Amino acid sequence: MILVPLALTFLLVTACSSDPAAPAADAGTADSAPSPDSSAPAFELPALWGAPVLADSDDAPDVVSVKLVAEKTKWTLDGVEYDMLGYNGKLPGPILQAKVGDEIVVELTNKLDEPTTIHWHGLRISDQMDGNPRIQNPVKPGETFTYRFRAREAGTYWYHPHVNSNQQVERGLYGAIVIHSPDAPRYDRERVLLLDDVLVDDKNGVLPPFLGSHPEIMHGRWGNRLLTNGQASSRVTHTAKQGNVERWRIVNTANARTMELEIKGATFRVIGTDGGPLEKPYTTTRLLVPVGQRYDLEVSFEQAGKVELISVTQSVDANNQLVEVPYAVLSLDVAAGEAPRAVEWPAFTPPIGERQATRTVTVELNGQQVSTGVGIAWTMNGQANAKDPLFTFDEGETVRIKLINKAGPEHPFHLHGQFFRIVSDGNPWTDQPGLKDTVLVPGLSTVEIIAYLDNPGRWMAHCHILAHAELGMMSEMVVKPAQK
Ligand code: C2O
Ligand code: CU
Repeated sequence: MILVPLALTFLLVTACSSDPAAPAADAGTADSAPSPDSSAPAFELPALWGAPVLADSDDAPDVVSVKLVAEKTKWTLDGVEYDMLGYNGKLPGPILQAKVGDEIVVELTNKLDEPTTIHWHGLRISDQMDGNPRIQNPVKPGETFTYRFRAREAGTYWYHPHVNSNQQVERGLYGAIVIHSPDAPRYDRERVLLLDDVLVDDKNGVLPPFLGSHPEIMHGRWGNRLLTNGQASSRVTHTAKQGNVERWRIVNTANARTMELEIKGATFRVIGTDGGPLEKPYTTTRLLVPVGQRYDLEVSFEQAGKVELISVTQSVDANNQLVEVPYAVLSLDVAAGEAPRAVEWPAFTPPIGERQATRTVTVELNGQQVSTGVGIAWTMNGQANAKDPLFTFDEGETVRIKLINKAGPEHPFHLHGQFFRIVSDGNPWTDQPGLKDTVLVPGLSTVEIIAYLDNPGRWMAHCHILAHAELGMMSEMVVKPAQK
């Protein structure tokens, strides 16, 4: 087999066709918000806007017991019906919410035609419950599996399958996880925003074949429609009030699209990242959000009028020039009111403080032409779907991981079960404070992270462009438990 490094590929340009003007329908689904159950603990969970919340069937105050059914569902976008997948028939699935310290019990029933698992992206739990199909036998059609774990840290996380994920996630199997901290300030509203895209063939009412095009093999599956909480983004409109301060929990659940977000008409600061609430909030004008990452924003409505959450997409204009095209992915009509109150942010202590790395390892991200399959394999340290762990670490070790991207396409690298910090080199993709579990490694560049390997187990480490993961950019790292 001849290995040819992949040439630098041209910047992928995917324009979204804009939606026809839509009436300002109220697309917020959760104003009929779930009322906390009657046995609610002393700490009352805030209502969440964006999707229904899973009902806790357990009376114990510190146990959240819920049921998820992975099943086929019909879904309509711009008047065209598609065969999709959903949890409990919904796309995205309902929000799983709990408070720090709760035990979470999720009974998953698989009503798909194929095996599945659920991965709780970002939660530091046992590797046995992490949805890794190399550890857990995937749940077969018709079968049920019960996941049990404890919510150790507050934050915004998400869940999705880890089997055939390029297809299962794209078809709708994903949902938000919100772990509340009793110390968090109360906001006028908490919105959960799952930002996604989907590739549809609307003439035929189908999703085009997976891995069916060269761009998808090179850059992952980019959609031609933007979705916010499973609906056409341009139609997701709601209301707010001048003077209010809201918390927005944003997750990029797309298969491949790195998002660049701005807010027009309101001010915001970043109050949380993958690893939960920040010790110190910070301000920025544009947020770079690779797939898999989360951001919690505090948004203040200083004036009445229109407020938009904008996702900026690169496109080419009539003169063949690269231009930025802004798409509103949430539009709010803000009614006149007062001046916003200042919200005091408690000094959250991060679950892991900064520590010096005692060891450095290197992970090379690359692609190769191969004579099998679609003709390209994506590799980590030269291996596609490495059978043996890339590294074995000791519990409690702090390791500098150098992620070296040898080819053109970018790779959002995700490590399960641990948090890390990104070493800033001044570039926007490294200028990202706070604890993370996912980091963007742009084409032909190197990014360094400091990983805190405090959670023993066998952990998947992979590219979150799900097509890349499927084509080989998937590995494991082992964290050996400390001798007790
Ligand atoms: Cu969200 Cu292994 O992934
Ligand atoms: Cu990748």
